[in-house]
Amino acid sequence: MSSVPPKVLIVGGGPSGLIFALALLQNGVPVRLIEKSSDPRIGQRGAGIMPRSLELFTTLGLADKVLKLAIPTPPVRMYEMPEGIHPIHEFEMAPRVNPTPPCPFLNIVLLGQDRLEKILHAALAEYGCHVELGTELVTLEQHKYGVDVKLLKRGMDMSSPGVPESASYEYLIGADGGRGVVRKLSGFTFLGETKNIKNLVVGDIHVEGLSRDYWHMWGDANSILISLRPTEVPTLFNFIIAGRDVNHSKLSTDKEAVRQLFMKNTGTKTNLKFTQVAWLSYYTPNIRMVDKFDNGRVFLAGDSAHVHSPTGGQGMNTGIQDSFNLAWKLALVVRGLAPYSLLKSYTEERLPVIKEMLDRTTKILNRTFKENHHSEGWESSGELLQLGVNCRWSSIVIDERKQAELAEDADFADFDFGDESDEEKPDEEKIDSYGMRAGSVLRAGDRAPDAPGLIPRMTGSKPSITTRHLFQLFGSSYHTVLIFTPALAQCLPILKALAIYPQGTIRSAVIVPPGRPVPPQSAGADFVLEDRDGHAHEGYGINEKWGVVIVRPDGVVGAIVGGASGVREYFTRIFGRKTTL
Ligand SMILES: Cc1cc2nc3c(=O)[nH]c(=O)nc-3n(C[C@H](O)[C@H](O)[C@H](O)COP(=O)(O)OP(=O)(O)OC[C@H]3O[C@@H](n4cnc5c(N)ncnc54)[C@H](O)[C@@H]3O)c2cc1C
Ligand SMILES: *[C@@H]1O[C@H](CO)[C@@H](O)[C@H](O)[C@H]1NC(C)=O
Ligand SMILES: *[C@@H]1O[C@H](CO)[C@@H](O)[C@H](O)[C@H]1NC(C)=O
Repeated sequence: MSSVPPKVLIVGGGPSGLIFALALLQNGVPVRLIEKSSDPRIGQRGAGIMPRSLELFTTLGLADKVLKLAIPTPPVRMYEMPEGIHPIHEFEMAPRVNPTPPCPFLNIVLLGQDRLEKILHAALAEYGCHVELGTELVTLEQHKYGVDVKLLKRGMDMSSPGVPESASYEYLIGADGGRGVVRKLSGFTFLGETKNIKNLVVGDIHVEGLSRDYWHMWGDANSILISLRPTEVPTLFNFIIAGRDVNHSKLSTDKEAVRQLFMKNTGTKTNLKFTQVAWLSYYTPNIRMVDKFDNGRVFLAGDSAHVHSPTGGQGMNTGIQDSFNLAWKLALVVRGLAPYSLLKSYTEERLPVIKEMLDRTTKILNRTFKENHHSEGWESSGELLQLGVNCRWSSIVIDERKQAELAEDADFADFDFGDESDEEKPDEEKIDSYGMRAGSVLRAGDRAPDAPGLIPRMTGSKPSITTRHLFQLFGSSYHTVLIFTPALAQCLPILKALAIYPQGTIRSAVIVPPGRPVPPQSAGADFVLEDRDGHAHEGYGINEKWGVVIVRPDGVVGAIVGGASGVREYFTRIFGRKTTL
């Protein structure tokens, strides 16, 4: 693989770019990943890892490494300013919840973004891919067959004028952050508001004498708010300084002034020692987004496409989900297995999610600064876990079960003469991109739930497996077709239909209810699994009619259908019509 020159250039070595590279490599597509900065970045930054991201890490094989280092979200203690010693208020930012069968991760964990990026660097290295530090994209030009770029290579010396390089790629990913150049050079619009709120000064500081069991906050944002959150590194705390009475321009450049501020407001009576400021930066709550994520052969992912308030901790998580959404599609297109038009679904699926994310994080920001209360603005609600984020409206997902249910409802509606004009059309559902209003019924476009308690009954063509969870079955480089009992009669036609698609891009699994013999129809399926505790049947809402669920490489339900014709229709939307043997 390493001898093939990469056809894809990823600009930017933050979480979005790193995840994009890893997902492409797992799909057998070589990449080049360049990063302007000469040194790996330091700092906690977006340290809150949402459950949906942990699921993504599971698919990419990273979850164990992340969870080994990450820490749980500690309870918050609020103190008066200055010099508060005894907490005046204590609350859980994110109360601990036990996992459930469909959701193995329900708690936000914390890991410095620098540590996460190190884990990703190591994962890339296993594929022979190394982030090219000190390499900056300067210009780009698109034409019909590709993208020509000019780079400057400074290597480890940021102050050197650099060595220019010209190169060409079939596709270019701008994962170069909020201040990135790809967006500008490619003519994307970037609209929104610049909040009239002063910067947040953020950073990491070593503190002695402060309990690591709590997230400490002094004061409030109406005057000055100081937040000190423990990190995975003993004595290292991540801080935020916010509020009207703060001289942000001074603080964001002056480590000593930061130490003094901590001492003055929290330190003397409490015997806290503020030793070293390890990282210091500032964060302007600019709220903007693009109106599309693709422009010809250039695609944006992460902060380069949307900047927002850090309240709610959605930024890093949203960026890596962007990348995961596009990577498998781009891989199929680059490998010549799918038409370019598949890539259009990226903007279609992500734009409503990003709109909602901007709205939610801005609401929390507004609350944090405008009202006189201490805590609520910081408390995260369930939606921020991102488990409800979906793309039910996408033109590449198919839901025969939903269509049947909505058609039934429409039949009822025919008898209802009190028609109101603004009523929802019965054959459509309103877009609810974060899944706040979603019922409990699983729909195509939703996140695919996990199910534990599976027992392998007979392995087909795949090597022997020890699968116990559905999540172990899913992978970043293939679709998984789950065939439940209602579709057993269709099993052979389904497997026959799957056989025409490119090798390695689809896996099939027959899932039987507890205690049932292995059905003869399942011969030829890659896996046969017994759903010992019924969690798979329950999680996927299997009823007597709709027995086939197709899970995409990004862990999204692509289709809920009844049999072979639905399966064919779905994969036609992915691979196009011209598939051959
Ligand atoms: C100072 C700061 C503090 C933050 N704090 C928080 C927080 O407390 N909580 C939270 O949830 N989120 C926080 N965030 C947001 C979070 O870090 C981002 O959402 C996340 O990093 C987005 O990842 P990304 O990969 O899309 O972009 P980035 O992480 O911004 O990565 C982009 C990369 O591209 C590189 N690059 C730029 N231009 C070029 C070029 N021309 N050529 C090559 N490389 C280039 C940059 O050097 C950078 O490394 C913070 C961000 C910043 C900047
Ligand atoms: C903030 O600090 C800067 C730099 O130290 C200084 O020039 C400025 O006057 C300060 N502003 C206020 C309002 O104190
Ligand atoms: C946040 O506050 C601003 C200014 O007060 C307002 O214009 C905006 O609509 C608010 N946004 C949200 C999402 O509540």
